Amino acid sequence: MENVFIYDHPLIQHKISLMRDKRTTTKEFRELVSEVSMLMAYEVTRELPLKEIEIETPVAIARTKVLAGKKMALVPILRAGLGMVDGMLNLMPMAKVGHIGLYRDPVTLEPVEYYCKLPEDASDRDLVVLDPMLATGGSASAAVRFLKEKGIQNIKFMCLIAAPEGVRRLHNDHPDVPIFCAALDERLNDHAYIVPGLGDAGDRLFGTK
Ligand code: PRP
Ligand code: URA
Repeated sequence: MENVFIYDHPLIQHKISLMRDKRTTTKEFRELVSEVSMLMAYEVTRELPLKEIEIETPVAIARTKVLAGKKMALVPILRAGLGMVDGMLNLMPMAKVGHIGLYRDPVTLEPVEYYCKLPEDASDRDLVVLDPMLATGGSASAAVRFLKEKGIQNIKFMCLIAAPEGVRRLHNDHPDVPIFCAALDERLNDHAYIVPGLGDAGDRLFGTK
């Protein structure tokens, strides 16, 4: 699929398998989400621009490279997206963090934004929207739409597990938004859960079920 990047690094695949196991505890699950997010941060930042500088080593002057100061922001979708923030910040401590909260209206079934707090200069930054699960794609698509309505253009979406239905929906609604994931699963079940998936990511992260 175009514009979908699946990270098949062995460490990522191993940790995703442990996360899928229903015997994995809340503590272990939370640690795994954080670790996989950190490994994925390494890949998501692969294209960051560099600039050359001069540094004096104990031996000589080195012409060497540092990040050119491209500004990033992470935007977790509440609540499960929160689990991905710390791991990413470990590798990019300079990133700002915005939050977007969505719930699904029981009558219209449309996602409604109930909370949104973004960095002041969000439209000057490269944004990575975070959510462990891309199921129907309704939440991700709505989050991206809300961000675009606020004038933000440079958006990537990063999840752990995606369903083909969610990928299609997000691509269809926002073809400009690349999707980064650790696994592309088979399908959704009748309750819009990803199969085989890992269950409810929010509940497993926060121990609410
Ligand atoms: C989960 C998940 C996504 C959404 C994915 O959140 O974290 O936000 O479902 O489903 P979709 O692609 O069909 O929209 P949930 O609504 O369970 O809320 P939570 O994060 O508070 O657990
Ligand atoms: N949300 C989850 O947390 N898990 C799924 O499988 C689908 C939506």
